[in-house]
Amino acid sequence: MLTLCKEQVIARKLIQWQADEFVSRQPKGTKFIGEGAYRMVYRSEGNVYKIPYYLDGESLSANEYEYENWHRISKLEDFIINGARWSIPRSIQLFRFPEFGDFDGYHASVIVMPFVPGQKAIGACMDDCGVLEAWDCLEYDQANTYYGLVDISNDNVLLQEDGTRVLIDLQC
Ligand SMILES: Nc1ncnc2c1ncn2[C@@H]1O[C@H](COP(=O)(O)OP(=O)(O)OP(=O)(O)O)[C@@H](O)[C@H]1O
Ligand SMILES: [Mg+2]
Repeated sequence: MLTLCKEQVIARKLIQWQADEFVSRQPKGTKFIGEGAYRMVYRSEGNVYKIPYYLDGESLSANEYEYENWHRISKLEDFIINGARWSIPRSIQLFRFPEFGDFDGYHASVIVMPFVPGQKAIGACMDDCGVLEAWDCLEYDQANTYYGLVDISNDNVLLQEDGTRVLIDLQC
């Protein structure tokens, strides 16, 4: 008999809950921690689970793009700009659940990656460039150059206690 790993079981429960329009019980041990334009993010133990906003629309592609990009850049080492370390999450899983929806060739899916403790990197580079928006900042431009990611906004970078900036949204 095929056994599912723990993360896949949680991912499936979250998608099932979403398909039930959140009226059933929220999967035990999961907690909403954030959202963006494409995905809602839940935490369970040491991982986050990214659920597409809609199970029948464009947002289904975000998880596929993130998975693809992670594999493209995962072999790159951390890099240092002006003494600050930049990093990406070191593991990722994608679980597809076509039975819960598809759109334009993409299936309903869940991304699982390690939870990154940290603050939104708002103003993380204020001293260097004097602007608030991350993508206007030189350092973020350089992160783009190293990792080839274009959506490096304040919401997509978490600043850790030791000053490391972790790119937690790799979808474009
Ligand atoms: N690995 C992680 N660790 C901790 N928090 C995370 C992690 N991944 C995502 N989050 C939280 O969830 C929020 C939304 O996640 P994410 O940016 O991946 O979604 P999105 O819909 O792709 O966003 P966007 O609007 O930038 O496209 C983040 O801003 C962050 O607060
Ligand atoms: Mg984001």
